[in-house]
Amino acid sequence: MTATAASLDAQAKINLSLRILAREASGYHQLETLFARIDLADSVRVATDTTLRELTCTGADVGPPERNLAFRAAEAFMAEAKWPSGFQITIEKRIPVGGGLGGGSADAGAVLRILNALAPNALSDAALATLAFRLGADVPFLTTDAPLALAWGRGERLLALNSLPAREVVLCLPPFGVETAAAFQWIAASREEEPLRAPALIRAADLDRWDGVVRLAHNDFETPVIHRHPGIATCLEALVAGGARIARMSGSGSTVFGIFERRSPAVLAGLPRGTRVVGARTLTSVAQVRLLD
Ligand code: C5P
Repeated sequence: MTATAASLDAQAKINLSLRILAREASGYHQLETLFARIDLADSVRVATDTTLRELTCTGADVGPPERNLAFRAAEAFMAEAKWPSGFQITIEKRIPVGGGLGGGSADAGAVLRILNALAPNALSDAALATLAFRLGADVPFLTTDAPLALAWGRGERLLALNSLPAREVVLCLPPFGVETAAAFQWIAASREEEPLRAPALIRAADLDRWDGVVRLAHNDFETPVIHRHPGIATCLEALVAGGARIARMSGSGSTVFGIFERRSPAVLAGLPRGTRVVGARTLTSVAQVRLLD
């Protein structure tokens, strides 16, 4: 019998490097980013033996179901696959919402992967990537099972890379968020005065080992965000003082992460009051869809 339900751990991402390139005529910005998946995950389950279209979410308030990216992903999939099925999506949230860890995008990516495993006629990788791209810049990467990838454009151009040895990650979650649209505006405003055209050479060999990735690590959002939220700089300093090989903000923030070979307990002492700390690891392989019946 063919399965009608499946589950998948929707694992979060961090941006080991994130550079904002040219602004398109549409107002959107071209990006260049090095994505890594981590083991912090939401649990996503989708059942299709229903005539209803529903989403229930526990663990965080994510707003109305129909506006949820995972719900919109399922609707888009059904339309594209010409599969007029109902769906019941259940999400247990563990990835902090709106913090630069791609939680909503990971849930949407998981729904696309699950539905493609359950569909009577699976979509091609290219068709799935096109659906993902329409949902947001993090969704194409989070619809793949690549643990590490370099992405360009609005996240739709991906170079899947060899995984790196798993490392301990410390996530520092400040008690405030940063609105992505505002962060892009801060960048656009600062560049009106001083346009950015910094040439760069990325060496393929640097992407094959942590020592090389340490050299590439960067986030263009840090300067404008730290200007408004100096606590971010304090988090970065505490992680470096605690021995982080890489300490950066993820996405447009406000989450700050440290990557460690060996972590000194001193890290936590220097963090601003109200900062929540979550431990995680980078992945050498990404979770796979589990068919349920
Ligand atoms: O993708 P998301 O809906 O979070 O984007 C919010 C806003 O951030 C967009 O409306 C746009 O103004 C800006 N943005 C951008 N370039 C991107 C992604 C988002 O300018 N690549």
